Amino acid sequence: MSYPYQIRSAEQYQAAYKKSVDHPEEFWSDIASNFQWRKPWDKVLEWDFKKPTIKWFNGGKLNITENCIDRHLEKLGNKPAIIWEPNDPEEYHRVLTYRELYNKVVQFGNVLKNNGIKKGDRVCIYMGMVPELAIAVLACARIGAIHSVVFGGFSAQSIADRLQDAKAEFVITCDGAYRGNKEIPLKSVIDDALVQCPFVKRVVVLTRTRTAVSMLKGRDVWWEDEVKKVETQGNHDCPAEEMDAEDMLFILYTSGSTGKPKGVVHTCGGYMVYANYSFVNVFQYQPGDVFFCTADIGWITGHSYIVYGPLSAGATTLLFEGVPTWPDAGRFWDIVDKYKVNTLYTAPTAIRSLMGFGLEPVQKHDLGSLKVLGTVGEPINEEAWHWYDENIGKKKCPIVDTWWQTETGGVLISNMAGITPAKPSFATLPLPGVQPILVDENGKEVVGNGVSGNLCIKFPWPGMLRTTYGDHERCRTNYFATYDNLYFTGDGCLRDEEGNYRITGRVDDVLNVSGHRIGTAEVENAINMHTGVVESAVVGYPHDIKGQGIYAFVIYQGHGDSDDKMARQDIAQTVSRIIGPIAKPDKIQFVSGLPKTRSGKIMRRILRKIAEGETDKLGDISTLLDPAVVEEIKNGKL
Ligand code: WTA
Repeated sequence: MSYPYQIRSAEQYQAAYKKSVDHPEEFWSDIASNFQWRKPWDKVLEWDFKKPTIKWFNGGKLNITENCIDRHLEKLGNKPAIIWEPNDPEEYHRVLTYRELYNKVVQFGNVLKNNGIKKGDRVCIYMGMVPELAIAVLACARIGAIHSVVFGGFSAQSIADRLQDAKAEFVITCDGAYRGNKEIPLKSVIDDALVQCPFVKRVVVLTRTRTAVSMLKGRDVWWEDEVKKVETQGNHDCPAEEMDAEDMLFILYTSGSTGKPKGVVHTCGGYMVYANYSFVNVFQYQPGDVFFCTADIGWITGHSYIVYGPLSAGATTLLFEGVPTWPDAGRFWDIVDKYKVNTLYTAPTAIRSLMGFGLEPVQKHDLGSLKVLGTVGEPINEEAWHWYDENIGKKKCPIVDTWWQTETGGVLISNMAGITPAKPSFATLPLPGVQPILVDENGKEVVGNGVSGNLCIKFPWPGMLRTTYGDHERCRTNYFATYDNLYFTGDGCLRDEEGNYRITGRVDDVLNVSGHRIGTAEVENAINMHTGVVESAVVGYPHDIKGQGIYAFVIYQGHGDSDDKMARQDIAQTVSRIIGPIAKPDKIQFVSGLPKTRSGKIMRRILRKIAEGETDKLGDISTLLDPAVVEEIKNGKL
């Protein structure tokens, strides 16, 4: 596979960038013509950010799995598509060649059809990081069903909310999942979720942990039995469904500043082109390289850079089931050594946590195969950047700091490995086709260099979200209404003297905890469900490893005999039940009141400062309803 659109020098980057701004339609149609289309598009781009309407390659027909698998079979049929490393290093790993992946996807596509799943149906996938997760995703895409993968760390309640919002009648899961020394009972969580979702018709269950599970007659079936049925039917073909470029490919739920997660919708054509283009250029992938993205497929990073980006490029993608610190903190380095990984793409939070174990786990392994390193999900502090550079890349591997979002489908701002310069803690420059703009609170453009503002994008790119599932108005108000004619990212940003971008963090009520996006309103809603809680307010505070920690201020009127510690544990447990363990507050402080304005609005700015330990910088508090409460909160700070 060759990539004629791969940028190979800084001059080529400048030229491509200029062309993408001057002639965006020609720029993107040249790139898109490298893919396999059943029918070419009628129009490259139609857009109006006011509505918003965004259509790329409209009228074009394709199936993304033909681009990710079928078209590689002739030349790459025997090359590894997916390398799977299990949680336990003692267990055998698996390699699926492109041919084997094709066979499995076709087979499971037929399983889906046998179970009544059709084009346009929504399928919720709640599985651990096993190869069958990628197979399930691709099989949905093959038959035109819309997948919605839910990360294994979400609770039954979160799954039920998502199933209801997506009106999904089908679920694919595992009996359980291994994660470090833990076993997570996925099917049992699904069973709890389905109590609230009687509309779910079918649950396909893969055996992984052999944990005991309940299987309901008429609703639940085993993956393995269904595959056998397809084999006895002798059906070895599952023609790819012809999809319109703008048909939905998947829904992925993500947190915003309101209490309810949004179903971000991506479509077939534009997403494919953008995931591939960004993959090939940012990481400078070369044929034969082994690419290791440590994210979970339950997040956008896994969708774009474990599954669709690499496979559409005929790459070898490594899928890892476990965690970085089990059986020991050398797990990543062991994998790099074992499979001669060329590119490692991970989160700053993982780097920070591994730094804490010193160099011994690193030095035991040969990391000589590494050529490119990447980070994603949150700002990387300089200390972690240098540790990564010196000890993992041995100062020979460019580091790409990739800024992007669930909504953007692929990386928007990043250096290109070895092609454009890196700058520690800066995402640096926009990819061709991406037009960032900084604005002040009033929406006025902040021009020039050495400035900061709210980060917006002023022109569409193929990978951007099209809508939020079932509620287009929500998409408009969330992303396109804050500033006229701009896509608002929710991030604050500065542009240095050379025009490099540095993302400074969210400017809305969204936290980034270990690279996971969590809305403060969601956590508050969950805390408020605990019987003893009267009211709560949640803010973020700097956390050495997680980037941000969750700090909850709670007005609590519990029953008399329980001590505070127990009550705090109960509240944390409630959050775990309602959202999932990833949203558990790190600190819970009981307060007798919250700082409110006279109109009853909680002054989060003040709470944020207190949580950050900057109690001398609270600003004017005289407009508060009860200024005395601030003193009490300050004194009780954890
Ligand atoms: C943050 C993850 C700084 C940012 C792909 C964004 C980053 C949110 C970076 C999206 C980065 C992501 N530097 N911050 N390189 N990458 N972010 O939707 O606040 O899970 O808005 O997508 O993560 O998180 P999401």
